[in-house]
Amino acid sequence: MSYENLAGRTAVVTGAASGIGEAVAVTLAAQGARVALLARRAERVQAVAEKILADGGQALAVGADVTDDASVTAAVARIHEAYGAVDLVVNNAGVMLSTPIDAARTDEWQRMIDTNVTGVLRITGAFAGDLTAAAAEGRAADLVNVSSVAAHLTGFPGFAVYGATKAAVTHLSALLRAEFGPLGVRVTNIEPGVTQTELAAHLDAGAQELVDGLVEASGALAAEDLADVVAYVTGLPRHVNLRQIMVLPTGQV
Ligand SMILES: NC(=O)c1ccc[n+]([C@@H]2O[C@H](COP(=O)([O-])OP(=O)(O)OC[C@H]3O[C@@H](n4cnc5c(N)ncnc54)[C@H](OP(=O)(O)O)[C@@H]3O)[C@@H](O)[C@H]2O)c1
Repeated sequence: MSYENLAGRTAVVTGAASGIGEAVAVTLAAQGARVALLARRAERVQAVAEKILADGGQALAVGADVTDDASVTAAVARIHEAYGAVDLVVNNAGVMLSTPIDAARTDEWQRMIDTNVTGVLRITGAFAGDLTAAAAEGRAADLVNVSSVAAHLTGFPGFAVYGATKAAVTHLSALLRAEFGPLGVRVTNIEPGVTQTELAAHLDAGAQELVDGLVEASGALAAEDLADVVAYVTGLPRHVNLRQIMVLPTGQV
């Protein structure tokens, strides 16, 4: 198999302030892509961008909230001004909150839906024109969505809404191929298993204990493991689409 060179690609990675998004941004930049890093904590994305620049890569830090129309519009304008059109979009920003249904935390349900589902749609819509234009020019164009194995798991009380948002991302990725595929834009859905990041830090103590137990029982992936997968799928020849990938720690069953 031959591999396309990621050098010369222009990528946007959401949720690049930490965890998987940070690792994806660092890895794509190390492969020669220029990378726009999005997250709400501007100082955190700035620090990651500076690390990439210090290593000789190209990076642009953009403080942005994927749940906010105006914030995304401003971010897109900033990226276009600095880099022009992009050809690789990684929808990675996400939040996981544990909300038993009888607690009726509509605020937390809404936050997960707004970030994990509507945020993905908002970013995808904002860059759809860039992706289809790149493909029309005969260049590789990628939409990568970071879903979760939680889209399929049924044994975790309190995680129904999170799992439902990730099921939506998985299904959306499959359906979007009908629009993007014929235009030459690849859509890849990645479903990580347990990965060592800050994601569980927003959980209450009980739910955090459950996640800790899972890590102890099955081990965990490193964020860099997922970054390697993203680099692999986006570096394949442009007619090859690994459309659905579940990546688990070997011990997670
Ligand atoms: N860790 C796991 O075990 C695991 C497993 C399966 C799937 N995933 C998925 O992997 C993705 C990355 O999560 P992670 O594990 O790397 O956790 P993480 O370290 O908490 O990263 C989440 C990132 O999303 C950003 N973010 C959250 N809300 C945002 C918003 N409204 N606008 C823009 N950025 C936002 C955060 O930065 P700011 O707070 O600065 O905005 C952060 O950079 C998520 O979609 C998650 O569901 C993780």
